[in-house]
This record gives sequence, structure tokens and C-alpha cells, in this order.
Amino acid sequence: MKITVEKLKSMKGNEKISMLTAYDYSSAKVEDEVGIDVVLIGDSLGMVILGYDTTQKVTMQDIMRHTGAVSRGIKKAHIVADMPYKSYDTEEDAIKNAKLLIESGADSVKNEKKPEIAKALVQAGIDVMGHIGLTPQTITDFKVQGKDQETADKIKEEAKALEEAGCYALILECVPRQLAKEITEGIGIPTVGIGAGPDCDGQVLVVNDMLGLFTEFQPKFVKRYANLSDEMKKAIKVYNKEIKESKFPTDEQSFH
Ligand code: KIV
Repeated sequence: MKITVEKLKSMKGNEKISMLTAYDYSSAKVEDEVGIDVVLIGDSLGMVILGYDTTQKVTMQDIMRHTGAVSRGIKKAHIVADMPYKSYDTEEDAIKNAKLLIESGADSVKNEKKPEIAKALVQAGIDVMGHIGLTPQTITDFKVQGKDQETADKIKEEAKALEEAGCYALILECVPRQLAKEITEGIGIPTVGIGAGPDCDGQVLVVNDMLGLFTEFQPKFVKRYANLSDEMKKAIKVYNKEIKESKFPTDEQSFH
């Protein structure tokens, strides 16, 4: 049984929502098999998979292709596709592009801020996850957001506006723990935190960060559950050496 938007909403206050990014078939399959509730094809794709220095370079083609790959690996998890930078500047573009992402295999879409766009998408029958706090597509100052009263109040207003626009859940990225708690208690839809402390209704991380595959920098909020980059280096080093020393392949890997 697929995890629906209704199921995710009903989890608020009852069960924590687990969410993780995926960009390819094999990882998506593993995430689904272990019971991750929501798999996000995030535009973090741009940095951890495509090697760009910003998420702004990610295109609709990129997200569509990776959404297709992820969806083929998933039976149960809810699939969210991130709408790339500039793909939802107008209501018309947002609806056209969101439909393409749904056709590629997403169950819902995520976009940053813009309650009026979220409302138009919901009215067009598309489920939307909002994203506030640190919003990488438009922000230039990559630091914790909402640390003073004025900006905290603004983020709270954005949360309310996105709930009223019909979003079924909200990502809270890089906001103080207390602010995330107040937002979580103050709205009726689930919050999913990343760098927002433990009081959100769910948590999300970038899979390459938590597996230690993307090692160029490690934000404070990332917990490393593995060190796959080191593991890969070890394995590939041995492979390289064995080829040079004519130890691979042996007769065992040969056909007769
Ligand atoms: O692009 C992404 O991976 C995201 C998550 C960090 C929430 O938006």
C-alpha cells in the first residue's frame, strides 16, 4: 500500500515521519525496503550527484529523469519531486511543470515558499509540500534563519500561509529548535525538519550526507550513519591494484 498524503497528515502527533533523498533506482529501492516513509528527489541532486556549486542549475529534465529512476525502485514510500529553480515562477509554469513531475513518477511536488503558487497547484489537484526557513534556491546567506524575533515571526507567518494554501506538509530547514517547535505546535499539518531540532513531526536528510558519500562539507545538522566514501576508496583501491598485478580476473571469473 502506497503512503498517501492523507496517511502522512494522520501521522502528525502519532508517529514520526522519516524522509530521505534519493536520486537513483538502487538507493530508492533500499530506502523503500527499510521503510522510509517519504523519498525526496531533492534539487540537492545538483550538488551531490551532478557536481554543481548551486541547486539553481538543476533543470526540469534533471528532476524528471531522476524521479523516473527513483519511482521504479519504490513500492510503498511517498515520492516527492522538488520543483527546480525558476520552474514555478508563474502559476501557469508551476502547474505545467508539476504535472510533468507527476507523470515522471512523483506522488507530490515540493516548492520553496510562494503560498500563492502552492494554492494554484492544490486547486489544480496537485499535492504540495512547502519548504521554509533556509530555502537554498533563493537564499544567499547560508546560515540559521529566524534567530531574531522579526525573522522568526516572518517564518511563522509563512508556515501559516502555506498551510492555508493547502500544503499537506512543510519542510523546516535550518531554524532554531524552539522556533520549529512553536511552528509544529501552531499548525495542523506535519513539519519535517532538517537542521530544525527534534520537535518536528518528521526528519529529512540528504542521503549522500548521512552515508558519508558527499564529504566536501558537513553541516552541523548532519549525522553520519556510515562512511561510504572511505569504504568505496578502500574497495576501488584494491580493484585497481589487483588489475595492475594481474590478480583480477582469475579463472573463477572466466567463462569456459
Ligand atoms: O533538495 C533537497 O534535498 C532538499 C532537502 C534538503 C529538504 O530540499
